[in-house]
Amino acid sequence: MLVGPSRLELSELSGRLSYTARDLAQRARRRLTSQQKTQLMVLTPDFTARPVISFQHVWKRYPTGTEALRDVNLVVPEGDFVFLVGPSGAGKSTLVRLLIREEKPTKGKIFVEGVELGRMKRRQLPFYRRKVGLVFQDFKLLPNLTIYENVAFALRVHGQPDAFIRTRVAEALDTVGLSGKELTYPANLSGGEQQRVAIARALVHAPSMIIADEPTGNLDPATAWEIMQLFMRINARGATVVMATHNREIVDLLRRRVVAIDAGQIARDDRSGRYHDDSSKSQIRAQ
Ligand SMILES: Nc1ncnc2c1ncn2[C@@H]1O[C@H](COP(=O)(O)OP(=O)(O)O)[C@@H](O)[C@H]1O
Ligand SMILES: [Mg+2]
Repeated sequence: MLVGPSRLELSELSGRLSYTARDLAQRARRRLTSQQKTQLMVLTPDFTARPVISFQHVWKRYPTGTEALRDVNLVVPEGDFVFLVGPSGAGKSTLVRLLIREEKPTKGKIFVEGVELGRMKRRQLPFYRRKVGLVFQDFKLLPNLTIYENVAFALRVHGQPDAFIRTRVAEALDTVGLSGKELTYPANLSGGEQQRVAIARALVHAPSMIIADEPTGNLDPATAWEIMQLFMRINARGATVVMATHNREIVDLLRRRVVAIDAGQIARDDRSGRYHDDSSKSQIRAQ
């Protein structure tokens, strides 16, 4: 597997996450000068990088008349970790659905890695969605398939060779700490383990970005914390993470970027934020 000194070094650095690190590094290396390649060895996310996500005056009105997003502007640089917080109905899931092109904005534009999603052709969507790793609150695993087959599923659908699938699935399951569970069925796993499978299924495509909608919403606090640490490690290897969450403890503990949405608008965007604004007034409003 190790074809050069850089891979060896990356693999040693990343340990169990060698798959994620290697693939992300490979992807990044294609665009980098040799000087930047040296910097890549320490796997530092580059916050001066061009934005990977850009929302420009985005509005979303559903056919029912609900204005779910109102003039949203948001820029996410490569390697960023963004928590989307806000009360139920604020518009977090709508923002996520626009980002994965499940919905289109009523007005405004969304760019992902320089491509405007509105201009993307229908046949390009499967490729786009593979580039983006998706993780949901309810795991969305296929109950009749083993863990191995759940993770392998999309690679099979896209006709990848068996040897490639075996390597990728093994690496993804190793990353999430589920090696050895290949032949188990989802119903025989705990909630936390099922969410790990869902994360492995996202990682199997070596995504440059992970988008998660309340991924810890169905998990007990200790398991939620483990899952969150997994996201943090994936982010530390270079993947951009955008996560809608209600988990106040975790947001307050991690102090990452917090984008608060309230009634369809961005109410707050803090580089190193908390779940609630510091002023008591907004705390009451957001509860
Ligand atoms: N498919 C839909 N059709 C109509 N209204 C919707 C739809 N999805 C969400 N909404 C409405 O849009 C608003 C934002 O919802 P959502 O994005 O799900 O918020 P959040 O994820 O923050 O709870 C809510 O008022 C919700 O009822
Ligand atoms: Mg939601």
